[in-house]
Amino acid sequence: MELFYASILGFFVLFVTFSLHFLFYRQKAGSNLPPGRTGFPVIGESFEFLATGWKGHPEKFIFDRIAKYSSKVFRTSLLGSPAVVFCGSAGNKFLFSNENKLVQAWWPSSVDKIFPSSTQTSSKEEAIRLRKMLPNFLKPEALQRYIGIMDVVASRHFASNWENKDQVMTFSLTKRYTFWLACRLFVSVEDPSKVVKLEDPFSVLANGLLSIPIDLPGTPFNRGIKASNFIRKELVAIIKQRKIDLAEGKASPTQDILSHMLLTSDENGKFMHEMDIADKILGLLVGGHDTASSACASIVKYLAELPEVYEGVYKEQMEIAKSKGPGELLNWDDIQKMKYSWNVACEVMRLAPPLQGAFREAINDFIYNGFSIPKGWKIYWSANSTHKSAEFFPEPMKFDPSRFEGSGPAPYTFVPFGGGPRMCPGKEYARLEILVFMHHLVKRFKWEKMIPDEKIVVTPMPEPEKGLPIRLFPHKA
Ligand code: HEM
Repeated sequence: MELFYASILGFFVLFVTFSLHFLFYRQKAGSNLPPGRTGFPVIGESFEFLATGWKGHPEKFIFDRIAKYSSKVFRTSLLGSPAVVFCGSAGNKFLFSNENKLVQAWWPSSVDKIFPSSTQTSSKEEAIRLRKMLPNFLKPEALQRYIGIMDVVASRHFASNWENKDQVMTFSLTKRYTFWLACRLFVSVEDPSKVVKLEDPFSVLANGLLSIPIDLPGTPFNRGIKASNFIRKELVAIIKQRKIDLAEGKASPTQDILSHMLLTSDENGKFMHEMDIADKILGLLVGGHDTASSACASIVKYLAELPEVYEGVYKEQMEIAKSKGPGELLNWDDIQKMKYSWNVACEVMRLAPPLQGAFREAINDFIYNGFSIPKGWKIYWSANSTHKSAEFFPEPMKFDPSRFEGSGPAPYTFVPFGGGPRMCPGKEYARLEILVFMHHLVKRFKWEKMIPDEKIVVTPMPEPEKGLPIRLFPHKA
């Protein structure tokens, strides 16, 4: 009997879905939509979109359709919504220049559930407020004073996780490095037992964000929501204590991003609420953690595969290391000297962009390249559509850091951090943490991959399928 009811329900859901799909497309059929295919009802082409990433070739989804339909824009259906993909530097330029005019940021509703805002506004409004405040905390001038701290945290990290080991699992260590760094620089948490208390729920949260959004007891999504609530509670406790410590002069106004947030008011002289600050710190942890750790792991992979590139980075970093007195920490001048290392990191992020792209939503109907883009449709920009195109990067699959010399790639072609008003606010922070990581790594070791042909899967960030185990060869003293 139960099976009978389940079948009836199944047919009903399918019927409604097909009807809505049919009505929707009939209504839009008169307009001049971009060429493309919308795939199955509701699911659309989401499976192909995700599966090309799981197989390690996220660009295939884009380039197959560019070849079939158009190199500028094509239609598809992703994550339950009709969508168009804008391609090439012209597509990037159009989207990045029309932020909040024709398009606005869009996240799947599951993200709102894991990040419920304390002020009960949508994550979109929250993000606009957060976006306004963030550059203050993350601009190069503010970050310069943190380079020495990054150096100290990196030294400790390498001493306890890499040194005196023959082999390590790279990806879990790059995650640990970026997380410990963020705990220190965002909220001054450095006691190992306290970091670990946040680290585990944080990975549950990150898994929840990437899971199917079914909120039932025991699902990864449900665990993600619980972990998010737990971390926010912990952060609020840290914030309350910090307020007391600041008032009593036990904490410094510049010791980390939390102190900055507590002491900075907006243009109306209003200070942020504790819960708002907790949300913002959580947003930074999420935005910055997996992206930077993916980039660091990819750097380890490419340096293992390309000995001449490793030599270039080693030479540059050793010149800096040798110029330092005993105990002298890295500073802003040293970072500015790491030009070749940063070109290498950029070439790594061109070939393995930590974020493959992001969504926007059309605020109104508009025309792009002669095609109608209906209000409410989702628009996707893809880093791969330029990064891996021979039109913008000759011999695109060749690893060549010299592409970034001089004035570097043409505008809107190299976009690992996005562009326009929503460009990643953590870009400079990421540059520093990646360069400090490279400095400590090559200064200590050469290494080789233990699985020579290990695949990189994109889920949705590039990660080595087996964690990138490597064999370490410490430099002779
Ligand atoms: C290699 C490392 C990183 C990469 C490749 C990266 C990439 C990106 C990209 C492409 C976007 C824009 C998405 C869009 O167009 O909607 C973005 C947004 C963002 N990133 Fe990063 N990111 C990195 C590191 C960081 C770090 C370290 C932080 C924090 C300190 C951070 C915080 C954020 C935040 C809060 C946003 C959302 C901004 C908004 O909604 O306006 N990111 N990131």
